[in-house]
Amino acid sequence: MKIISVVGARPNFMKVAPLHRAFKKFRSVHHMIVHTGQHYDENMSKVFFDDLELPKPDVYLGVGSGSHAEQTAKVMVEFEKVLIREMPDLVIVVGDVNSTVACSLTAAKLLIPVAHVEAGLRSFDRTMPEEINRMVTDVLSDYLFVTEESGVLNLKHEGVSDRKVFLVGDVMIDSLMLYREKAKLSAISHQLTVKCGRRILARSYTLVTLHRPSNVDETENLRTILKIFQGIERHGPIIFPVHPRTRKRIEEFGLSSQFAAVKNLVLTEPLGYLDFLSLMMDAKIILTDSGGIQEETTYLSIPCITMRENTERPITIEVGTNVLTGLSSDKVISLVDDCYADKWKKSRVPDLWDGKAAERIADILVNAKTLEH
Ligand code: UD1
Repeated sequence: MKIISVVGARPNFMKVAPLHRAFKKFRSVHHMIVHTGQHYDENMSKVFFDDLELPKPDVYLGVGSGSHAEQTAKVMVEFEKVLIREMPDLVIVVGDVNSTVACSLTAAKLLIPVAHVEAGLRSFDRTMPEEINRMVTDVLSDYLFVTEESGVLNLKHEGVSDRKVFLVGDVMIDSLMLYREKAKLSAISHQLTVKCGRRILARSYTLVTLHRPSNVDETENLRTILKIFQGIERHGPIIFPVHPRTRKRIEEFGLSSQFAAVKNLVLTEPLGYLDFLSLMMDAKIILTDSGGIQEETTYLSIPCITMRENTERPITIEVGTNVLTGLSSDKVISLVDDCYADKWKKSRVPDLWDGKAAERIADILVNAKTLEH
C-alpha cells in the first residue's frame, strides 16, 4: 500500500510525524512524505523535521509564497505530476492550510482516495481562508479523522456519511506527549535570559503568537496589540516569537520602534518545535490566534487567550483552558491580570487526546479492505 502524506506549512509537521511513526509498524505500507514548500524558511520548516525526527521529504515541490490562488494553483500543478508518477493508493492531508486543499483537490480529480486528518472543524467564519480550506477538503475526502465531538456533528449536519467519519483524537497531542520530556532539555529560556538581560523563569512570563491576517494585516489592529503589551508588561516578560507575516507588517506600518519601546517585550525569530514547546510548558499564560496552540495549552493546562472572534475548536473552551476575546485590549488585559492573580477556570483533557490518535488512524487505513473512493 503506497500512501503519500502532504506537509506544507509549520502546523503540518507535528501532525504528520506521528503518522509516519505509526505507519512504520506496517511492513505492507510504503509511506512517502511530500513537502509543498508553502513554508520554506529554515525556522518555519527544516527545524521541525530535525526536532520531530522526520526523514527528509521524499519530494519537495518548492512552491513558496504567493496569493491564495497562486499558491494553491502552483501546489496543484506540481503535486499532480507527483501523483501521476507515483500513483499512490491514498493521499493524507492534515489541517487547513492552502497545501491541504490544493492536494486534496488534485488527488480527488485523479480518483485517488483522500484522508483528511483534523476533519470537521468549523469556525463558521468564511472570512478565514482556513475555513474554506476545511470545508472543501472535507467534501473531497473519503476518510475523515476527527479530533473532537463537534467535528462529528458538523460533518453530520453537512450530510457526510457516518461510514467515512472516525473520531480518533488529536495527532498533534501525540507529538506533544512524545516530545514533552525532550522539550524540558531545551536551553531556550536560558538563551532568552542572556539575550534580554531579564531572567525568564517558569510561570513568570506571557508567551505570545499572532499571525492571522485579521490581527496583523491592519495598522489599527497592530496598534491594539501594542496597547495590550503596554497594559500587561508590568506582570513580567512578554515573549513574542514573530511570524514572518507579522514581522513584515510591523515593518511596513512603521511600528518597529514602538514595539521595541515596550521594555518587557522580548521579540525573537520564530522558534522550533522543542523550544516553543518548552516555553509553552513553563508560561504563565499564552496569547494567541493560532489553531493548534488552543489545543496544546488545553492539554498542558496552561491558561490561553485566543484573540479571535470564534474558534473551530470549541472543546478547548468548553472543557479546556481557552477563552475567546477577539481583539479587545480591555478584555485581554483584564484576563491577564486575573491569570497573574491565579484566577483561571478549571480544565480537563478532552477524550481520546491520549497520544494514540496516529495509531488509530493507521489501523483504520491499513485494515480498510480496499481504500474506497
Ligand atoms: C499559513 C496558513 C495558516 C497557518 C500558518 C502557520 C494558509 C491559508 N494559511 O499562514 O493557516 O496558521 O501558515 O504559520 O495556508 N513567509 C516567509 N517564510 C516562510 C513562509 C512564509 O517569509 O517560510 C512569509 C511570506 O511573506 C508570506 C507570508 O509569510 O507571504 C505568509 O505566508 P503564507 O504561507 O501565505 O501564510 P501564513 O500567514 O504563514
